[in-house]
Amino acid sequence: MKILGIETSCDETAASVVEDGVKILSNVVVSQIDIFAEYGGVIPEVAARSHLEAALPVVNKALTDAGCTWDDIDAIAVTHAPGLLGSLLIGTLTARTLAILHNKPLYAVHHLKSHVYANWLSIPDRPTFPLLALVVSGGHTQILYMPAHNQFEIIGTTRDDAVGECFDKVAKILGLPYPGGPSIAKAAAEGDPNKYKLPHPKIEGLDFSFSGLKTAVLRAVQKELGLPISHPSHDLKNHLSQRQVADFAASFQKTAVEILTEKMQMALERYPDAKSVVVAGGVSANKILREGFERFSAFFPDASLSGDNGAMVAAACYFEIQSGVQPVDPYSLNIYPRISIEN
Ligand SMILES: Nc1ncnc2c1ncn2[C@@H]1O[C@H](COP(=O)(O)OP(=O)(O)OP(=O)(O)O)[C@@H](O)[C@H]1O
Ligand SMILES: [Mg+2]
Repeated sequence: MKILGIETSCDETAASVVEDGVKILSNVVVSQIDIFAEYGGVIPEVAARSHLEAALPVVNKALTDAGCTWDDIDAIAVTHAPGLLGSLLIGTLTARTLAILHNKPLYAVHHLKSHVYANWLSIPDRPTFPLLALVVSGGHTQILYMPAHNQFEIIGTTRDDAVGECFDKVAKILGLPYPGGPSIAKAAAEGDPNKYKLPHPKIEGLDFSFSGLKTAVLRAVQKELGLPISHPSHDLKNHLSQRQVADFAASFQKTAVEILTEKMQMALERYPDAKSVVVAGGVSANKILREGFERFSAFFPDASLSGDNGAMVAAACYFEIQSGVQPVDPYSLNIYPRISIEN
């Protein structure tokens, strides 16, 4: 079964053809990072307009790269939530129109579910159920318990910032370029992870909190520079040496990874029947996180599939179909992204 997956939830316009949920036939990702690096973050209106320009060329390239015509495609899968509203609207409208035009069944797929299913792609052995999934992305930090395909229970979640967001904000304080995750990782490679002691949040259970860690870095930088806490955060980078930046990046990265590792350890103690641990989302590309999770023999997606892409949407859709999920009506307004508490 060949599924075309379309993803536009944030600042990547992506499409992919995946066979039977595991074999990638094509994977096209057009990133808007270059546009937003200049601003230090995503501007939703600009992202939506960029998706509008890129959506159809990206879909066409995904078909061409896969050596497919529309006749070969069995279904279309599209991210419907969560994400930036304008961006999601362009993706869902594109998918609805293509489904009507080419008479294909249409599936609306949840973005975090897709991140988890990146772990079924390009990996020889597959996770076994029940499993625990750590989703670490720009907008989310969650631990999920999955007893079987397409069954998810959120057992831990962040009460404030996501860990990816924290990487991005700490990078800003340190004057490192957007997106912050890869910049922090690069700078940290030259730094001493034990130079600055940063606190672990005192959140009981499996929930997370990352806003305090971000503020702790801010205060530690101000203290290191001998500046008052009223000193504006955007100016601190002008006073930091390259060595200080590297040491702060390494100390922050180590602390963030320790927090994630401690919570996963706790989750495994609470869910002793879990047979696999999988990690998903943009932050799963982080090398130190991968090293920290070696003790759990964790599954990680190929680094090229940890960020947003269409292949993971197609994979998630395949396993939804196997679990009996029915297509949505492309004429219905129900698949439009809606703002809900679960987003
Ligand atoms: N090597 C890395 N180390 C740490 N963080 C990273 C790395 N590479 C990317 N990231 C972070 O991953 C995040 C982007 O991940 P992703 O694209 O999955 O998030 P998103 O799609 O914006 O959010 P969500 O999936 O929650 O909707 C950014 O915060 C980025 O800084
Ligand atoms: Mg994402």
